[in-house]
Amino acid sequence: MPQSKSHLRVKSQTKTSQQNKEIIIAIDGPAGAGKSTVAKLIAQKLGFFYIDTGALYRALTLKAKRLNLNLKDEKSISDLLKKTNIGLEYDKNNLRVTLDGEDISKEIRKPYVTDGVSDVAKIKEVREIMTTLQRKLAENNNSVLEGRDIGTVVFPNAQYKFFLDADFNERVNRRFKELEEKKENINMELVANDLSTRDKIDSTRKIAPLKKAEDAIYIDTTNLSIEEVVNKVISWIKI
Ligand code: DC
Repeated sequence: MPQSKSHLRVKSQTKTSQQNKEIIIAIDGPAGAGKSTVAKLIAQKLGFFYIDTGALYRALTLKAKRLNLNLKDEKSISDLLKKTNIGLEYDKNNLRVTLDGEDISKEIRKPYVTDGVSDVAKIKEVREIMTTLQRKLAENNNSVLEGRDIGTVVFPNAQYKFFLDADFNERVNRRFKELEEKKENINMELVANDLSTRDKIDSTRKIAPLKKAEDAIYIDTTNLSIEEVVNKVISWIKI
């Protein structure tokens, strides 16, 4: 398994051999629209790499929080990224995220990380480095990437682009259930506040804001089951 030359590593994924060009499936959309679940299932069905780009921003946020850095101090956050080793492994439908060798897969989903991630993700230099890393991760591998700017910035020439969306209340419900299952101490109001704050920061930032690529297929998942969304996406893919 080839590893990225950068400090970001991906391993344990099944390589799909490509003669010339890898196939990229870009899935963007706001939090709670169902991207992760759908992207994982599609990657699994097609035997593609699964790259959760939000996990990269979350990992950096976790490290900055642990070091008590000011998340708005752009230079210290981007300097921190340069000396950070983030690993993504996707195996048997499980995503394992490591930070300097430590498994942080669960920690990065906690509300205190989620709270700060949009501030970290709006830093220009952080985005530039993360974009380069994401491209390297997908190099020579058919991949499903999910995030906010995959179809617009990271892979504007992706063969397939989707924008998953859902009504705000439905997204809040989904996120609340997810956190409840993880036994996080959370209430609906906090989840709603978090989503609306992140929606706002993510979609209004200067660099690579959350936006549907002009050529992306828009899917409103509000009244659809996961299976229905997966089938809709798959129906567009010709390989
Ligand atoms: O998908 P997620 O909730 O794990 O993403 C966490 C944050 O990371 C999200 O609020 C915005 C940011 N993000 C981003 O700016 N660009 C991406 N490609 C992925 C995530």
